[in-house]
Amino acid sequence: MADLIDLALTLNRQPVRLRARSDLRLLDLLRDELRLTGAKEGCGKGECGACTVIVDGHAADSCLMMAFQVDGAVVETIEGLAGAGLHPLQDAFIETGGVQCGICIPGMVMAGKALLDRQPQADLDSIRAGLAGNLCRCTGYTKIFAAVARAAGQPAPHPPAVASTPPAAPGYYRPRSLEEALEILTQRGGEARPVAGGTDVLVKAKDGQQSRASLFDLTAVAELRGIEERDGHLWIGAGATHTEMIDSPLVARVIPSLPQACAVIGGPQIRNRGTLGGNLANASPAADTVPPLYAADAVVELVSVSSRRDMPVAQFFTGPRQSVLAPDELILGVRVPIRAGVRGCFLRLGQRQAQAISKVSVAVGMTFRDGRPEWVRVALGAVAPTVVRAPETEKALLEGGYEALRRAREAVKAEVVPIDDLRSSRAYRREMAAVLLERAVRRVAEA
Ligand SMILES: Cc1cc2nc3c(=O)[nH]c(=O)nc-3n(C[C@H](O)[C@H](O)[C@H](O)COP(=O)(O)OP(=O)(O)OC[C@H]3O[C@@H](n4cnc5c(N)ncnc54)[C@H](O)[C@@H]3O)c2cc1C
Ligand code: FES
Ligand code: FES
Repeated sequence: MADLIDLALTLNRQPVRLRARSDLRLLDLLRDELRLTGAKEGCGKGECGACTVIVDGHAADSCLMMAFQVDGAVVETIEGLAGAGLHPLQDAFIETGGVQCGICIPGMVMAGKALLDRQPQADLDSIRAGLAGNLCRCTGYTKIFAAVARAAGQPAPHPPAVASTPPAAPGYYRPRSLEEALEILTQRGGEARPVAGGTDVLVKAKDGQQSRASLFDLTAVAELRGIEERDGHLWIGAGATHTEMIDSPLVARVIPSLPQACAVIGGPQIRNRGTLGGNLANASPAADTVPPLYAADAVVELVSVSSRRDMPVAQFFTGPRQSVLAPDELILGVRVPIRAGVRGCFLRLGQRQAQAISKVSVAVGMTFRDGRPEWVRVALGAVAPTVVRAPETEKALLEGGYEALRRAREAVKAEVVPIDDLRSSRAYRREMAAVLLERAVRRVAEA
């Protein structure tokens, strides 16, 4: 049974306070409680972008956020765009014929606005990437991209809104510290389930596999946030989003394959909200941040009210969708040893470039001395019940040279145990593991 909770936010530059059911998604709050019906429900699973709004300056799918997650936040919807006249983006969509159907276009405009707010002079490639989380079923992309390109560089009608409304939601739903979050997990036993970006758990809720009434938010827990150097290691908080990892020069230096992996996850809305902790806890063999972590000897830090333990990432996963994470534990973060001169590469094969789950993925980490490989790590995703390391392949690659690469290609085919499923056949996955490995090693060697 859902509770009623108080929420306070800055919505379209106005402070708003209201009482709402604790199990509402942001999309329900906007459409049903506040009668802001510009954001649409297309898929309800983060795949179409029709529900896109801007939260604290980032495009987000409002179907994958709980309403209590915007307590204290700045939210912009399509209704807030126009001032005295239309917003330059709205004008541009009309002028170029980009306005096609009422379902997708509000989300496209909001994704375009989020992009141009950060990158006012975005070029066509950036516009394509910025709108990769938004589907148009009538395939009118050319005019949509042209509309955003036309609006690029035009002055925005309003200064960016800043948070002016202190949060109101009770700590029970939105704990502000790790201690509070762990206390909730302990007190509510197996009942309570944390939500971070919501990009996995709210898809499960949509499919009826998870109750939204049992969720509580982790995004305000300061101890889970941050990316920093600690005691000779890189530390990435479980709450770090894919976008934050892509933008971090420290992550790029210490574990170069990780931002490459984050960059191909979902579309911008998914990367802006989805977190490292959520990707790990979900324990999918196709989770894209995991092969880079295997290929960097990462350690997962787990914490509960009464204990704290470290787990090498390969021991964290016990099977498909299974891990050692106990019901009263949270993932605090991930620690990666810093290796001088490390190079890395992540490559994956999916059905298409954006919003696709990996059929095969490969992460390679290497260091070199006098031009020869000195340290090699190879990890593969979606080709076994968990992500796997490939020790024989690593051994072959340590030899260096073309012959070693040929042997590594053969070794990797023997080290993976892919399955036949909807997305791909076993034989194809095995062959592609070798192809991706060779490409990744060549890129690392040429870097
Ligand atoms: C359209 C779409 C495309 C996607 N594409 C990809 C892709 O290309 N590659 C990929 O790997 N994934 C993809 N995903 C899956 C998802 O975005 C990622 O797994 C993401 O990193 C999950 O993080 P989250 O914060 O959103 O997790 P949430 O949904 O918030 O949580 C997921 C699980 O983790 C638990 N959890 C979250 N944080 C913690 C913590 N600190 N401690 C303990 N438990 C925690 C939650 O209780 C829940 O069980 C996609 C999802 C969608 C909807
Ligand atoms: S409704 Fe499709 S992404 Fe939200
Ligand atoms: S704009 Fe909606 S289907 Fe193309």
